[in-house]
Amino acid sequence: MSEPRPICLIARRIPAAGGDRIAERCEVREGGPAATPDLLRELAPGTAAIVTDPTVAVGPELLDAAGPGLRLVANFAVGYDNIDLEACRERGVIATNTPDVLTDATAELALALTLAAARGLPAAERRLRDGEWKGFDTTGDLGTGLSGATFGIVGMGRIGRRYAELVRPLAGSILYTARNPKPEAEAALGAERSELEQLLGGADVVSLHAAATPETAGMIGDRELESMRPGAILVNTARGSLVDSAALAAALDAGTIAAAGLDVYENEPDVAPELLAAPNCVLLPHVGSATTGARDAMAGLVADAVVAVLDGRQPPNRLV
Ligand code: GLV
Repeated sequence: MSEPRPICLIARRIPAAGGDRIAERCEVREGGPAATPDLLRELAPGTAAIVTDPTVAVGPELLDAAGPGLRLVANFAVGYDNIDLEACRERGVIATNTPDVLTDATAELALALTLAAARGLPAAERRLRDGEWKGFDTTGDLGTGLSGATFGIVGMGRIGRRYAELVRPLAGSILYTARNPKPEAEAALGAERSELEQLLGGADVVSLHAAATPETAGMIGDRELESMRPGAILVNTARGSLVDSAALAAALDAGTIAAAGLDVYENEPDVAPELLAAPNCVLLPHVGSATTGARDAMAGLVADAVVAVLDGRQPPNRLV
């Protein structure tokens, strides 16, 4: 009799570019797009690998439900704040993520949000579709031009660096925050390292690219918004936890800043009602990495990790 195949739980779903390779190697269980924590705990027992994404919380409960045969949690994302790495380490479970392959897609989306927020594009399009457009209007739909603007990049990692490169042709100057100086970005892009406070006070566009950690939680709140320029635009393609939604909605209402473009939220898929009601706020459903190329490549990295660990090899992009 042949050996039973290892079981891989795909918590929600992933593109065939990786899913098919996992199915060749494993018996696959799939939670589906609406999988709940309860369903995942029901599906977990006996699994050797679990494929997760930013909406799937991985902590002691899920890991223990899987049992002692669990060897890998492969996250379909570069961010891994949804995974309790310490709980994985304690149980001898490897965790991996999918960096690099989504850098361009996410930085491009941040640029798209920047431009859409600066010019109020979604609201203008809604008016047209709603039949409210009365013709070329010399005083309506006025946005903010960005040529010569100061761009403030909070977190100069891979995605922040790529965003800096994309906005370079527009930018008058580029400020950035990072734990360590980035001499290469300074030389190549003329970016200047700054403290967050100075960046917020000096930038026309503030784009967030920091990881979600206890230190970055709520890093943009009332005080920080108050210190931004009145015409400033805030863009967040990183994680919702970086921004206090209520404070941002209040700042948009009061005109403390001009506009915001968001792709991520504190409790996805819930979006704070005050943000839904806020003026000049472009809201996208966490699509930073959503290009076919990036998502297929992410699926490929996830499959690489699953196959490597099940074959007893070192997986790529190991976190613990
Ligand atoms: C998506 O949010 C990611 O972290 O890749």
